[in-house]
Amino acid sequence: MTILAFETSCDETSVAVVRDGRVLSSAVSSQVKLHAEYGGVVPELAAREHLKNLLPAARTALSEAGIGRADPALRDQDAQQRVPTDLELDAIAATQGPGLPTALLVGFKAAQAVAFALRKPFVGIHHHEAHLYSPWIASNGGALAANFAAFQPNVSLIVSGGHTLLVRVESELNHRVLGSTVDDAAGECFDKTGKMMGLEYPAGPEIDRLSEQGNPKAYDFPRPLLHDASDDFSFSGLKTSVRYFLRDNPKLLDDPQRVRDLCASIQAAIVEVLVIKTIRAAKRNNVRCVTASGGVTCNRALRRDLETACKRDGFTLRLAEKSLCTDNAAMIGILAERKLLYKLPATDLDAEIQPGWVLA
Ligand code: KG4
Ligand code: ZN
Repeated sequence: MTILAFETSCDETSVAVVRDGRVLSSAVSSQVKLHAEYGGVVPELAAREHLKNLLPAARTALSEAGIGRADPALRDQDAQQRVPTDLELDAIAATQGPGLPTALLVGFKAAQAVAFALRKPFVGIHHHEAHLYSPWIASNGGALAANFAAFQPNVSLIVSGGHTLLVRVESELNHRVLGSTVDDAAGECFDKTGKMMGLEYPAGPEIDRLSEQGNPKAYDFPRPLLHDASDDFSFSGLKTSVRYFLRDNPKLLDDPQRVRDLCASIQAAIVEVLVIKTIRAAKRNNVRCVTASGGVTCNRALRRDLETACKRDGFTLRLAEKSLCTDNAAMIGILAERKLLYKLPATDLDAEIQPGWVLA
């Protein structure tokens, strides 16, 4: 089965072609630089960028996957245009939600239009449900891990700029959210505390880099909800304590080593909460496997500490490849294919986006 998939829920425009569990191509056009000027994603700008970048991303994805022919009706200068035929694609998929409404609309409506034109089934996908698949996907064209069902049930951490979720994956297409953030997401905490330090948006990768030469024990920040009985997270208190800390230590930012120590100390607080709560949920749920995906899963300390904790406690750990941690259409296509293989009904071509769609 060959699927063309679209993802435009936030600030990444992505189009991918997947076939039989393999990623044939995955084009991702990031808007990070554009939004950096504003210190966060501006929804209206994101939508305009998606409109500008979607067709080039689709051309790249189709061409890399070897799908489509140069339409003989096109003039020479347009000969690189890829026109997929109804014989080459079996279905079209797109992120239906959650996400920024204007951003979601671009990819979702484009996908519906392609499905309409080619008379193919259309599948609207829940963005977080797709993240559950990214740890099992190979970005280099390799097959979807054939044995992933053997690692179910598992506990999966989805941690990004917009969300922090712990999910129990019972079996394929069958999962239950154990907990989520009651305020800020972990990535948001990286980004907002970084902004207070004068770092560019998104600050997560830079905090990760600076932390490598910082002392994580230099400053003691709160670990919110660490000992709470629930699987929920909270990061806004940590953010506020960094704000007060900087107010009380105004000269600290002039000293590069103290900035590195501050980054490492903030990162240590976030990572400790994520790791301890994930492992505790895994133990409580009596699973053998832990997985993680979402942009923050690129963080080196999080990857290291999850590995150490899982090894110590005997869990198999499956981390998404870094290129598949951040938002991408490959995971959307892979999940759409699984749904079709399981004979789940296609999504109506009149269906609307669901910006506030909550994973159950
Ligand atoms: O999944 P993603 O690309 O987009 C969504 O938010 O859905 O995640 C982006 C988030 C940002 O908050 C960014 O700062 C964070 O992931 N991030 C990181 C790292 N790389 C990306 N946070 C900490 N360390 C990193 N290396
Ligand atoms: Zn995401």
